[in-house]
Amino acid sequence: MSTPDGGAGARRPLRVLVLNGPNLDLLGTREPEIYGRETLDEIGSGLAARAAELGMSVAFFQSNHEGALIDRLHRRDFDAAIVNAAGLTHTSVSLRDALLAVERPFVEVHLSDPATREPFRRVNFLEDVAIARFVGLRARGYTLALEELATRWAAGLIPARAVDPETNGG
Ligand code: DQA
Repeated sequence: MSTPDGGAGARRPLRVLVLNGPNLDLLGTREPEIYGRETLDEIGSGLAARAAELGMSVAFFQSNHEGALIDRLHRRDFDAAIVNAAGLTHTSVSLRDALLAVERPFVEVHLSDPATREPFRRVNFLEDVAIARFVGLRARGYTLALEELATRWAAGLIPARAVDPETNGG
């Protein structure tokens, strides 16, 4: 019998949204001793290639604006997300609320390990609601996040969400 996700062993590609917050557009030149020299585009290309190998579909969104990030989540046109909320990790109740509201699992990624830096970075509004976290591994953290989602998808641990523009994807 067919199921919405195609049935066991025949699941459609997982749709992943990679959401990047403020100042990550400056990667490559931004404090490279902390964040590395890879640009966000280079990280995205690597992720897209790995996603193709894993049979996943991946979309990218970066914004320096909290509301734009929240609006992107509200489209709910993805099954799971990889989120580097950058500085908003430490300040944004609204972004946390949006991640919970859209009911999509997400993996939290940080290039650096915020917990080992200034004390204000130890405040984290996302860590307790993320399904997994990869921190301090530079760009490799994004790849590990993608692989973590692939494993969970294959195990049936991520619900396949319907895409319905009428209901805003939900
Ligand atoms: C960051 C860590 C945050 O504390 C910081 O505000 C960032 C980047 C990281 O990827 O290491 O902008 O999220």
